[in-house]
Formats: sequence, C-alpha cells, structure tokens
Amino acid sequence: MTDVVEKVLISEEEIAACVDRLASEINRDYEGKEIILVGLLKGSFVFMGDLMRKLSMPVSIDFMIVSSYGGRTVSSGEVNMKKDIGESIEGKHVIIVEDIIDSGITLSAVMEILRGRNPASLRLCAFLSKPARRVKEVQIDYLGIEIPDAFVIGYGLDYDEKYRNIPCVGILNPKYINE
Ligand code: IMP
Ligand code: MG
Repeated sequence: MTDVVEKVLISEEEIAACVDRLASEINRDYEGKEIILVGLLKGSFVFMGDLMRKLSMPVSIDFMIVSSYGGRTVSSGEVNMKKDIGESIEGKHVIIVEDIIDSGITLSAVMEILRGRNPASLRLCAFLSKPARRVKEVQIDYLGIEIPDAFVIGYGLDYDEKYRNIPCVGILNPKYINE
C-alpha cells in the first residue's frame, strides 16, 4: 500500500485543524440547541467521528446510505437510497455530514428528501469539495477544504471500497485504477 497515494494533499495535522475550525463554527451557530448529525455512509464516518467529539451541544447521530458511484471514479448521475435514517427529523436541527461534494448530485437529492420532512433547519457540512466538477449547485454551509479535480482517497474516502483507513487525504496513484 506504500505507493497507492501518489501525493499527500492534506496531512493529518491539516485535517485536525480543519475539523477544529468547522466544529467551532457549528458550536457558535447552534449554541443552546440540540442537533442531529446525518452522515452519509460510508465515506463520512471518519470525519463525523472526529467532528462530533469537538461539538459541545447535545448531539444525536444517524446515517443514510445513498450512492451515485459504483467502483468507478466518475459519477453515474443516478442516486439510489439503500438506507434511510431511523428517526423523525420534524422540528429538529439537522446537519448533513458528507465526506466530499463532487458533482453535487448525491447531496442535492438528499437535501431535497430531508427538506420535505420539515426539519427546523437543515444545513450541510462537507469535509471536501471539488468545485470544478459541480453539476448541481449545492450550498455548503460548513466547508472544510476545496481541492482540485483529482480522485482522492483516505480519511474515509475510498477507491473501490479500499483505502478508507489511510489517515491523510491523498491523490490516488493512477496505476491502481482498474476500469
Ligand atoms: P457527487 O454526487 O458526485 O457529489 O458524489 C459524491 C460522492 O462521490 C462522495 O460521497 C464520495 O463517496 C464519492 N466521491 C466523489 N469524489 C471522490 C473522490 O475523489 N474520492 C473518493 N470518493 C469520491
Ligand atoms: Mg460518499
């Protein structure tokens, strides 16, 4: 697994600083409120685990599984919900937590579904964003780091379900792409 990362884009230290900043923004905006974090599996779970431990209000968590990707590095443009959240969000403050916003297709579909359930508020927190690849505009209320148009792995992000365990974010070495 040594050369699977062609180039480190974001180090563990930079990730930690980014998570701290996002958490303080959320702590400031939701002071005195309770929130539900809705993570999109599987990619967001590492980020969400770090983020939630820096939050100071009462936090509950839930997860959805929504996919627009197979084992490929290009979005199929289709969204398929495999797992919904298990609780009502009506009247609750909800923050969707996502690993990366690429085309925006997954997120705009998820926002639409959750908005229809009448939460008190609905915001989006994304660790990474690739603005160059946006197809559907999405408002990212809490944005970690903007990255260039490259396929990245690590810190929860996979290629073909592998490499989520790499602690930094790096560009996938093209020699590991099999399409
Ligand atoms: P979107 O609907 O195109 O915005 O897709 C977002 C989803 O695609 C993310 O939740 C990731 O699972 C996946 N994805 C997009 N870009 C990357 C990448 O560079 N590395 C790993 N997964 C990615
Ligand atoms: Mg994902």
